[in-house]
Amino acid sequence: MPVSTATTAFLHAHPSRVAQELFHERTGGAASHVVYAPGRVNLIGEHTDYTGGFVLPMAIEPGLYLAARVRADRRVRVWSALRPEEPAEFAVDAPVPPGKPAWSNYVRGVIAGLQAAGASVPGFDAVVHATLPGGGGLSSSAALEVATATLGELLAGITLDPEQKALLCQKAEHEFAGTPCGIMDQFAVVFGKRGHLLLLDCQSRVRTLVPMRGDDVALLVINTMVRHELNDGGYRARRDDCLEAARLLGVRELRDATATSVDEARALLPERIFRRARHVTTENVRTLAAVEALRAGEWRQLGVLMGASHDSLRDDFNVSCAELDAIVAAARELGPERGVFGCRMTGGGFGGCCIALVQAARVREVEDALRASYLAATGIEPVIFATQPADGPAVLLQP
Ligand code: GLA
Repeated sequence: MPVSTATTAFLHAHPSRVAQELFHERTGGAASHVVYAPGRVNLIGEHTDYTGGFVLPMAIEPGLYLAARVRADRRVRVWSALRPEEPAEFAVDAPVPPGKPAWSNYVRGVIAGLQAAGASVPGFDAVVHATLPGGGGLSSSAALEVATATLGELLAGITLDPEQKALLCQKAEHEFAGTPCGIMDQFAVVFGKRGHLLLLDCQSRVRTLVPMRGDDVALLVINTMVRHELNDGGYRARRDDCLEAARLLGVRELRDATATSVDEARALLPERIFRRARHVTTENVRTLAAVEALRAGEWRQLGVLMGASHDSLRDDFNVSCAELDAIVAAARELGPERGVFGCRMTGGGFGGCCIALVQAARVREVEDALRASYLAATGIEPVIFATQPADGPAVLLQP
């Protein structure tokens, strides 16, 4: 695999160097380890993972770099390049508790999980350098968890089963960060594969890599620049609604209901619960249809499914916001005739990013048009970048 190794080295050379320089600035010494974990974007299958449904995410190259070195005293110090004045400090000679600053809980939770799995993680200094925006709905938290787990494996001299690694990271998010997320983000980051989307059955955890075919299409990520927070109640409330829907429908998980069974039970369900269940069951159908469209290279059909997903998230699941809707409206205005097959919000919602499926030859034009429309509608300058499915975590430097 010489080609992909060379590509990996090229992709990561600069940010890895930056992380090492930041490490030197903070500690006065040289880093002995650098690890990387990607961010992720979800093509379709939104708010279905915690109901056992289907999701179709991919890892993306912007991610997190962790430069580190072991310490002899069983203490951990971690600096975020974004807030260097506020390092996290804790001991690893006892079970690591949650603590401050808040972002450090992703690190703390993973180290605690490694300890619980029997790993002996030594003390270390580390600096986090991100090429991924935080709070942008691109899973910077899963990237930090998976990067920490990758570093922890190296320092403790163990190799976790990758599925166990993803689940350990999800547990850190639940128990240390207070976000009751599903398994999509951590699986997308751990199992990312260049050129492929990951179809994940969140009930059986069966994973299928689906190639992203064709040079004629590109994926654009459009950041609303409105920060989303998933531990402030809205996310948990959706999850509770889905549990309630499953209970009233008499199924173990909403995944086991169908759009038809939900329709038939409409009279039994409070209106809000009915709409939540309708979103999840129709989104599962759309996600499987999207896999077929992707396999066949039917971009218009894939775009239609993405549009329907957005409408359902906006109207039935109520997780969109004015800014996300403004981007989708601008993309629709362009449509396939002017290079946009489809566009939808991606991730948890309430801000964050949209993803658009665009004709490769018209990426620049589309980018300019979306930027101008969004700026006119909201007064906010969006950040837009083209992306493609990337590989999962990597060890970039070790002794
Ligand atoms: C967040 C969560 C995921 C998933 C998405 C919505 O990203 O972390 O588990 O629920 O929202 O699809």
